[in-house]
Amino acid sequence: MTASQTADKDQVFIFDTTLRDGEQSPGASMTLDEKLQIADILDEMGVDIIEAGFPIASNGDFEAVSEIAKQAKTSVIAGLARAIHADIDRCAEAVKHAEKGRIHTFVSTSPIHLQFQMNKTEEQVLDIITDTVTRARNLIGDVEWSAMDATRTPIDYLCRCVEAAIKCGATTINLPDTVGYATPDEYKKMFADIIERVPNSDKAIFSVHCHDDLGLAVANSLAGVAGGARQIECTINGLGERAGNAALEAIVMAIRTRSDALPYASNVDPKFLTRASKLVAGASGFAVQHNKAIVGKNAFAHESGIHQDGMLKNAETYEIMRPEDVGVKATSLVMGKHSGRHAFKDKLKELGYELGDNALQDAFRRFKDLADRKKHVYDEDIEALVEDEISIAGE
Ligand code: KIV
Ligand code: ZN
Repeated sequence: MTASQTADKDQVFIFDTTLRDGEQSPGASMTLDEKLQIADILDEMGVDIIEAGFPIASNGDFEAVSEIAKQAKTSVIAGLARAIHADIDRCAEAVKHAEKGRIHTFVSTSPIHLQFQMNKTEEQVLDIITDTVTRARNLIGDVEWSAMDATRTPIDYLCRCVEAAIKCGATTINLPDTVGYATPDEYKKMFADIIERVPNSDKAIFSVHCHDDLGLAVANSLAGVAGGARQIECTINGLGERAGNAALEAIVMAIRTRSDALPYASNVDPKFLTRASKLVAGASGFAVQHNKAIVGKNAFAHESGIHQDGMLKNAETYEIMRPEDVGVKATSLVMGKHSGRHAFKDKLKELGYELGDNALQDAFRRFKDLADRKKHVYDEDIEALVEDEISIAGE
């Protein structure tokens, strides 16, 4: 896979890890059938790489990666492997069914992980990188290497690790913000420094992988791209360990909507985003918060009178994206106590009522009283109120 440029935009590859890092979210296990359905929509929507699972983790994970590899039409299918021969071999077995398969192997590089998790020295970890990346490259042409906890790794040592991985044939270098600790400026600088300092850095594609512990995962991912990364690892609905991963839908739409500030292109067709979000929410059992960007129930809903009035005149007053572009049928103007006369009149028209000025005034006042008492005012409530109004006027 090589990065390309279209007109004035650099291509960024979207690497979806909903089925691996997303599924690592406690309680988010999915069945094989659900995983196949999710992989199918990711493939159809243009996701470049699908990380389908962690083949050594269980027979179920091995089967899921193998079946997804068989089913995939265009996406690269990746499996995760620790820096252990048995993991790498098992991963190769699973992804071999794919037309385009990838082994994604990782090892920790930060001092705290080396001391407490691995009990290894820096030199020992360097030897492990050389050994395991070489092993993976002997099994497959597409190898991604990740430096776990890269953002808490001293830059000089990280440069040596990346250099070793590239030397042994890694084609993608992923520098994750494993614990969601980085700030956008730091993350951008880390990529820029590594790409500048490491010999032959142009032989690999650099990748961002951000967790959302401080709510910065999407911002950090985009900052990493500004620093030179060209692959973004993310998940549908931001599903993932702890506070989750960077949300794919937000990344794709940020790039599309702000192409002036973010001059990149992705292959993802955003019309699938809403469907993919619902599928993942149903399969994982993790409901999407109402105010979630792009895919939340309220992402294209307006209740305040001022906003509804603006929306009825020109949708661009309060919407920066068109709902149909992400697979939402239409904007919804929710009728509630904050709604104004303009939206109320429009709603009556939609329900087939045209009232004279006095009746409208009266109905609007009664609607406001009702909205003060009720959390949700449904179309049926408004119909009942107007029918009542009409019968009073007819008496
Ligand atoms: O967050 C992380 O560091 C990971 C690696 C396995 C890539 O998920
Ligand atoms: Zn992760």
